[in-house]
Amino acid sequence: MLYETKGPFRTMVDVESGTVDRGIYADEGIYQLELERIFARAWNFMCHESQIKKPGDFFLSFIGEESVIATRDKKGELQVLLNSCRHRGNAVCRAEEGNARSFLCTYHGWTYGLDGQLIGVPGYKDFYHEQLDKSQWGLVKAGKVASYKGFVFATMDPEAPDLEEYLGEVGRMGMDLLAEKGDLELVGGVQKNLIGCNWKLAVDNLFDWYHPQISHASAFMSGFRPQLEKLSQEDQELAKIAGIGGGGARQLQRAVLGAYGHAIGGPRLTKIERDARAKLGDKIEILNNDRFRELPQAQQVLGEVGIDTAGHPNIFPNLWMTGFQLSLRLPRGPSQCEIWWFTFVPKEASEERKKVIVHGANHVFGAAGLLEQDDGENWDQSTRAMRGVVASRYPLNFQMGLGQTPVSVNEGVAYIDTNINEHPQLWTYRAWAEWMDAESWAQLKQNHSAAPKVGDLI
Ligand code: FES
Ligand SMILES: [Fe+2]
Repeated sequence: MLYETKGPFRTMVDVESGTVDRGIYADEGIYQLELERIFARAWNFMCHESQIKKPGDFFLSFIGEESVIATRDKKGELQVLLNSCRHRGNAVCRAEEGNARSFLCTYHGWTYGLDGQLIGVPGYKDFYHEQLDKSQWGLVKAGKVASYKGFVFATMDPEAPDLEEYLGEVGRMGMDLLAEKGDLELVGGVQKNLIGCNWKLAVDNLFDWYHPQISHASAFMSGFRPQLEKLSQEDQELAKIAGIGGGGARQLQRAVLGAYGHAIGGPRLTKIERDARAKLGDKIEILNNDRFRELPQAQQVLGEVGIDTAGHPNIFPNLWMTGFQLSLRLPRGPSQCEIWWFTFVPKEASEERKKVIVHGANHVFGAAGLLEQDDGENWDQSTRAMRGVVASRYPLNFQMGLGQTPVSVNEGVAYIDTNINEHPQLWTYRAWAEWMDAESWAQLKQNHSAAPKVGDLI
């Protein structure tokens, strides 16, 4: 271990000067504490309800590094069970998804019901002399399980606030930016790949609109972005008004900041731009992703701030929504991260449009994604350098936009409208330190930063 665990963690994330100690990405002790104080405590995304429609349907997910079974029991209730036999700890479910009547441990044969109850023990009479109290040896269950608009979450900690309260205004807005795109169904299969990076760098990057013009320059040159030159002169003008093209990230940005570390960062889409995009419609396929913003229902649900927000939400700690996709950044040690991609399509969409969405998703993110390959290289190199003895003496810089633009609040949502900035990243690290310093949910509830107030300079 290169770093001694330093505490309090607030000293490693200096929100006044905008610096972050590199130790938080490298130290094994800090990593173990993250599993305990962040992942074992937070609401973690499990799966979409459409993946576990019928009793017995299951999907294997993770809470930190721990395998959990998300399933639906005989009564139709959602269950999340730790995938570890109570006898010697063996996994009781090996398939990534499927349908089962019960979970049979392949080691000695203890069998668990869909609700986690221990229902079968070989040798119960002869070897255990009927003395084993089966009611006490069921699979460990999540503290709470809940679904938000079809997206299933679980927390291992029964002291956690309820899901809606945990998400708050900003977490709900983040989920709504996907959920309001229609009645969604999951495209079969979840893409999974391993990148040699600390999970927090992968989260940090989802808010990062500073890097595309450099990191993804070759991807943009390959022509995978909308080909504006194919449009008529008039439509090219419209595209300009719509804020499309020009290369690099758009300057008009919005950071939305919520309690417990939820944040949204990226472009702001004004009414003028939205109207121009609506006029272009099918001429640029990717614009269809934003069409839902014209629906009265979406406008009502997202509110005045949300309807203009086109950036990337992160539900703390590690769930990102983009386009029609969800991504998890699962921790696998301080220097490894497993990236999962769930891709959705609107049920009512034509087969052709569904294909276009899936094609787009595969080309951008995931193991074969043009952008994720660029990003993964950078995160890998950053993570290697975090382990350096000398490098570790020098903190990282998160000063972009620091203290420049006062916070606005509208309909209870705090946000900063500004240029490209690092507000959402620093907000996430601030929350990270608060989670790490809190010894219990009771402490975290008391000591976490609420959303910033109007006029705050952060
Ligand atoms: S480890 Fe599962 S039955 Fe022994
Ligand atoms: Fe990127």
